[in-house]
Amino acid sequence: MEKKKILVIGSLNIDWVIPVSHMPKEGETILGGNYTEIPGGKGANQAYGAARLGGSVTMLGMVGDDDMGGKLINNLSSQNIDVSRIERCKKINSGLAIIYVNNEGKNSIVVLPGANSMVDKNYIDKNSELLSQSDLVVMQMEIPKETVYYAIEKAYEGDKKIILNPAPAPEYLDDYILSKIDFLTPNETELEKLTGKEVVDIRTAIEASKVLIGKGVKNVIATLGEKGSLLVSSDKTIAFQGERVNAIDTTAAGDCFNAALAVALSEGEAIEEAIEFANKAAAISVTRKGAQPSMPFRSELSLN
Ligand code: RIB
Repeated sequence: MEKKKILVIGSLNIDWVIPVSHMPKEGETILGGNYTEIPGGKGANQAYGAARLGGSVTMLGMVGDDDMGGKLINNLSSQNIDVSRIERCKKINSGLAIIYVNNEGKNSIVVLPGANSMVDKNYIDKNSELLSQSDLVVMQMEIPKETVYYAIEKAYEGDKKIILNPAPAPEYLDDYILSKIDFLTPNETELEKLTGKEVVDIRTAIEASKVLIGKGVKNVIATLGEKGSLLVSSDKTIAFQGERVNAIDTTAAGDCFNAALAVALSEGEAIEEAIEFANKAAAISVTRKGAQPSMPFRSELSLN
């Protein structure tokens, strides 16, 4: 089977993961458990997850010239990801994420973008050949929004399939950009933010997704945690049931979903099968700690 090429353009962060009994409230000081340092970043997680599941993956992004930068790149190349175009920026730190994980496995994340903020249009232009050689382009929103817009426009001009995981959700995405996206993959919070509509259940998620379809997105695939996921396009609306698992850490479950979705699509699967596969992969990831270490291997789940 000929695999299509996946290009991930996005962030690389080192995650400082701190176990907490509960999320600190405003003005509250709490004691955390022992922290761990784990490779993360939504872009890098999606690249790592896709490669572990057997995808042919190249990553574009930037790290600092600190020790962490080297570790982040090495971790990706350990999965045979082409990291040759990842740049190391001088005088800036690698991206850093402070992640609280509570007893229920839920998280709160603050990201300090560092070198991720240096990913600009010039860098995309410098790598235009790579973009033209890829088939599927996967992006998130932890690099500057104008760069994401620019890369989407270039990918669209080159007739690439575009997956945008709108995380963290911006206040809005312009309609001319939305109309270029093949697969938009918000979670509930991101869906609410992008549409201004309250999302509390499947029905309200469908309504909000239809707003985005009305703006030209080809497929909205909403990830709804335990409630499963949802596909809305101009001619179909399908709800997919969530897998029942004992979640210990939901960090990067969305990244895992996007990674698996990209792999299944790169193998020519229909969108419904790709979503089933992504649901299964994400369900495995939440049973393990950390971002990249939690990504499943292909041998752990099957497509069809
Ligand atoms: O989606 C999880 C990721 O969000 C973490 O790895 C962290 O780096 C932040 O980017």
